[in-house]
Parts: sequence; C-alpha cells; structure tokens
Amino acid sequence: MAKPILVANWKNHPGSLAEAKALLKGLSKEARLYKNLSLFIAPPAPYLELAALKARNFARLACQDMAAFSQGTYTAMLTPDILKSLGVRLAIIGHSERRALGETSAQVVDKVKVALRAGIVPLVCIGEQARDVDGEHFDILREELKSSLSGLNAKTARGIIIAYEPVWVIGKSAKDALPPAELAQTVIFLKKQLSDLYGRSVAESIPILYGGAVEPENAGALMRETYIKGFLVGHASLKPESFKSIAESLLTKI
Ligand code: 13P
Repeated sequence: MAKPILVANWKNHPGSLAEAKALLKGLSKEARLYKNLSLFIAPPAPYLELAALKARNFARLACQDMAAFSQGTYTAMLTPDILKSLGVRLAIIGHSERRALGETSAQVVDKVKVALRAGIVPLVCIGEQARDVDGEHFDILREELKSSLSGLNAKTARGIIIAYEPVWVIGKSAKDALPPAELAQTVIFLKKQLSDLYGRSVAESIPILYGGAVEPENAGALMRETYIKGFLVGHASLKPESFKSIAESLLTKI
C-alpha cells in the first residue's frame, strides 16, 4: 500500500532564515516517524536550499507555485530547471491564495503541464468559497476541477495529485473545520468526476488530499472517516509538535 502523503505548506512563514532553521531542526527530531510517510515540505522559495539540506533525511522538497513556462526570460519566475536543481519533486499549483490574486484555471493548466514535462508532481488545488444546503458548491468544484485539468489526457492525469481545500475553512481551527462526513461526501464526488473524465482505473490512481484547518484535534477523524490519501497542512505545519501528531494520525489508519 502506498504511504500516506503529507505536505507542509509553510506559505510565507517563518519570517526569517534563522526561524526556518529552527523549525527544520524541530521537525528533524521526528525523522524516524516521517520516514513512514511520503512527506513533502514546501517552504518559501528562499529557504528551499536550506530545507534541502536540513530535511534530506526525512522529507522531499515541494514548491508553493511555479512558472507556467519552461523556456524564455521571465523576471522573478521559478522555472522548472531552477526548482529541479534544488531538488523540488512536487509543486503546489492553483492554491486558493494564488487564485485569489488572479491566477486562472488556464494558468493552472499551463503550470500543471510544465510540471509534468519536467518530472515534478503537480499537486492541483481546488476548493469552493462557501457551501450551501442546495449543494451549489458541487457545481463549482466540478467546474474548477475540469478547467484546472483541461487538455490533460488519461495517461498524464495519472501523474497528478489533487488537494481539496475548502476556502472557507483555510486558516480556521479544528473546531470550525469541515466535518469528516462532509469531507467523505465531497471526496466521493471528486472521485466520480475524475472517473467521468479519465475512467475508473485512472481516477483510482489519483490521490486526493485534504487541506484546511487540519490540526491534531481533527486529523484522526478526517483520515479515518473519509477516503483521502493524506493532508496538505498550513499553520499546523509550523509547529513541530502539532505536525508530529498529524503525521501519527495518518499512520494509524494503515
Ligand atoms: P491551514 O492548514 O492553515 O488551514 O491552511 C491550509 C492550506 O491552505 C494549505 O495549503
């Protein structure tokens, strides 16, 4: 059975290189635990080299975004050759915080294709802004999923991972998070959409992760009572004790 996947999205934290070093030191104390997972750390880009060095025994590197182009001259863009040279293996693409700044699904598709061509696994993020009792969010999720994977055929779709992150939950605490039963329902829905797009066997090969207010208090139930393959964790990944506890929750399922 494949190892559970755990992705730490540090976003724009911590605020200094010294603090990043201290965080990596804290995480490294649980290196033995983390080796049982497929663990990725996505630090701010300027800390990638440090993370590559300090986490080499227990985690692989991820980036929080990447350029939609591989050739050419683009100020400030993280092109795949740079990311690969630093050891980046996975790219978070289409995070809602980037979509809120104007990133479109068309750009997401371009990035997904560039990542796949470069041998970097795209972690494609989708999530609704809000939920309602009429289930309109399912239509929104279907559209976002389809438009973010537009033009990808079944063969290439096998190389992606989906992260479902309801936007209204991100940054909240466990008590305000999505109930596991609702997550289970949504994961089934997403699997069905993937199956309609690519067929059942490809759909089953695409891991679906969950992100949004994953904390030690709710990680166990979210993992046990749903059909996810792991977590994409924001604020709790900045606290080594919390992150350790989330990792343990992922491992108790298997
Ligand atoms: P939080 O875990 O802080 O809710 O963030 C989730 C997220 O956006 C991870 O990409």
